[in-house]
Amino acid sequence: MKTLGIIGGTGIDQLEGLEIVDSHAVETPYGDPSRAVEEGMLGGVRVFFLQRHGSPKMIPPHLINYRANVWALKSLQVTDLIAINAVGGISATMRPGRLVIPDQIVDYTWGRAHTVDTGEEGTLLHVDFSDPYDHELREALLQCAVAQNIAHEGAGVHGVMQGPRLESAAEIRRMAGDGCDLVGMTGMPEASLARELGLAYASICMVINAAAGLDDKPLTLAVMRANLLREAAAVRQLIAALVADY
Ligand code: HPA
Repeated sequence: MKTLGIIGGTGIDQLEGLEIVDSHAVETPYGDPSRAVEEGMLGGVRVFFLQRHGSPKMIPPHLINYRANVWALKSLQVTDLIAINAVGGISATMRPGRLVIPDQIVDYTWGRAHTVDTGEEGTLLHVDFSDPYDHELREALLQCAVAQNIAHEGAGVHGVMQGPRLESAAEIRRMAGDGCDLVGMTGMPEASLARELGLAYASICMVINAAAGLDDKPLTLAVMRANLLREAAAVRQLIAALVADY
């Protein structure tokens, strides 16, 4: 049986329309998840929701306990995990206001607890990460986006930086040279942990700003927030459509 989990990012503190039926404070071998996992019904489908940054506190990207978060959702029998990530746009088509369903990742993060492989199992966890996102889950999101007429990009390379500071213009030029279309801070190691733990994982990226050095205006949180609010509505519409087909 399939069960859907959703990890909300910046700007998605609650899953609107989710009728909460339970809240799970899961204990994990890796410590506490960001927050209790909410279990609820969305469009008649059981959904588990976790806000990655916690709330009301705000855990910065480099301090999120990604292992505990993904493990907690798995322990609640989640099989399919949709991540929501706020990102900056690098490529010309990745304009602020766009939703993107990325198909690749470049990981620039460091110092994060990034694997459940402790070496104690007697086997090495060399998971195949050639295609970091689950094909079927991506396809389902893409079909819903088309059916709902939601403006989106159907592919993109998600470069994940350490943060919490934003990038220098030269770092963004380097990322563009590496083939990155998007820059965020929370896509890894979440995606590879989901793979290690056997969960199907896909991401909905909300482009909330042009990446550093690509716009003559300074990057301000106020502009990012305004885009975020608009896109959060489209994300909700996309998730509602996904659930309706689930
Ligand atoms: N860089 C990194 N992470 C981000 C950005 C950005 O420009 N915008 C939103 N998250």
